[in-house]
Amino acid sequence: MHTELETAVLLDQATPQTKLFNKQPLQDKPVYTRSVKQVIKDKLDAMSTQKWELDQENAFFVGDLGEVYRQHLRWKALLPRIEPFFAVKSNPDPMVVKLLASLGIGFDCASKSEIQQVLSSGVESSRIIYANPCKQASFIRFAAQNNVARMTFDNAEELYKIKKLYPNAELLVRILTDDSKSLCQLGLKFGAPLDTVKDLLQTAKELNLNVVGVSFHVGSGCLDENSFADAVVRARWAFDQGEAMGFKFNMLDVGGGFPSGDVTDGITFEKIAAVLGPAVDAMFPSDVRVIAEPGRYYVASAFTVCTHVIGRRTVVTEENETQYMYYVNDGMYGSFNCILFDHQVVHPKVLSRGGNLTFDDKNDDIAINGDERTFNSSIWGPTCDSIDCLAKEANLPVLNDGDWIYWENMGAYTICAASKFNGFKQPEVIYTNTFE
Ligand SMILES: Cc1ncc(COP(=O)(O)O)c(C=O)c1O
Repeated sequence: MHTELETAVLLDQATPQTKLFNKQPLQDKPVYTRSVKQVIKDKLDAMSTQKWELDQENAFFVGDLGEVYRQHLRWKALLPRIEPFFAVKSNPDPMVVKLLASLGIGFDCASKSEIQQVLSSGVESSRIIYANPCKQASFIRFAAQNNVARMTFDNAEELYKIKKLYPNAELLVRILTDDSKSLCQLGLKFGAPLDTVKDLLQTAKELNLNVVGVSFHVGSGCLDENSFADAVVRARWAFDQGEAMGFKFNMLDVGGGFPSGDVTDGITFEKIAAVLGPAVDAMFPSDVRVIAEPGRYYVASAFTVCTHVIGRRTVVTEENETQYMYYVNDGMYGSFNCILFDHQVVHPKVLSRGGNLTFDDKNDDIAINGDERTFNSSIWGPTCDSIDCLAKEANLPVLNDGDWIYWENMGAYTICAASKFNGFKQPEVIYTNTFE
């Protein structure tokens, strides 16, 4: 007997593809059941037999939907009370959205087109939160037309707009929290300081608007689990203000900020869950519905990008040291925009040299033979701009044109913010499911 979650990713042994979508059979693309390494190998092998195919050396992603599912199970096990609403902005990949839709989770949308994508994946409007405190008027009208009632605000101007366009919306006041321990400090832009909350709620009351709860975001890439506990205390205070004014608050939204699935030391999901779960239970009775907006957590570790070495320059320094500059076919203006916008540090690994696959699931270091000489190297994207540098210092064996470099943990805030600057295409995604 399978649980609902298990049936959503039940393997169909009869076909090479995985039946991931029990509620929506529509699969735009094949989903393999091979290891990430095998998928990459098959892709590279297929290329070498199609020498003259246009675009054959393009960079490509492997998206492991099984890893997304493993992260989901981990969430359910460690934070069972808190319902995840996946932050679509982190990776609106259609197959990821369809998988999560089929698992029955909710979605945090930032715009009309994200709402459209989620609705068209078969998600009911009640499973969406429009979590952008400053919304375009026409997008609010769209939300109203589609009964996407739950939305956040953090300023009085937004309340007047909502009063005009969607007076029955169910509002959550987004409060400011301490995000000083996070890589991306969203509080610079959003969040009502606590000393403004009473006035905001008073305005909502006068406008006869329906405020149903409180939301916060401790910042993306949060490095201190105590930020969550501190934010829960602030949210409790805001709840008390609302209840004192006669609002019936029934929802707490603890936002995003959870780490990628590959994080095993430092600030882990386990550490956050051990602080956040008990803090919520201690301060909020069980009739308060608690949701979260994890983005990076679900997708970062599920995507690997493979880049082709399209050029090399040899540099001899004044100290007579030989160094190499490698040029690859995805860069800062493409998937690696995460270096600039998301403060990510990316790690190059050698994927294939001279046609030999050197990808190693367990190898944390570059794939080199024991005593082979390595060189101080830098890796650059394909555009003509010098900001387009992916790694200033990497210790690599000598690579040649035609070799491949791969980069893991590339699933969050990467493809979705990529441009086509200089005419470079966004890499295709090949899907697999390694869940067993
Ligand atoms: C409103 C909101 N919710 C959720 C997220 C997702 O955050 P994370 O990827 O850190 O979980 C973001 C990220 O910017 C956000 O702005």
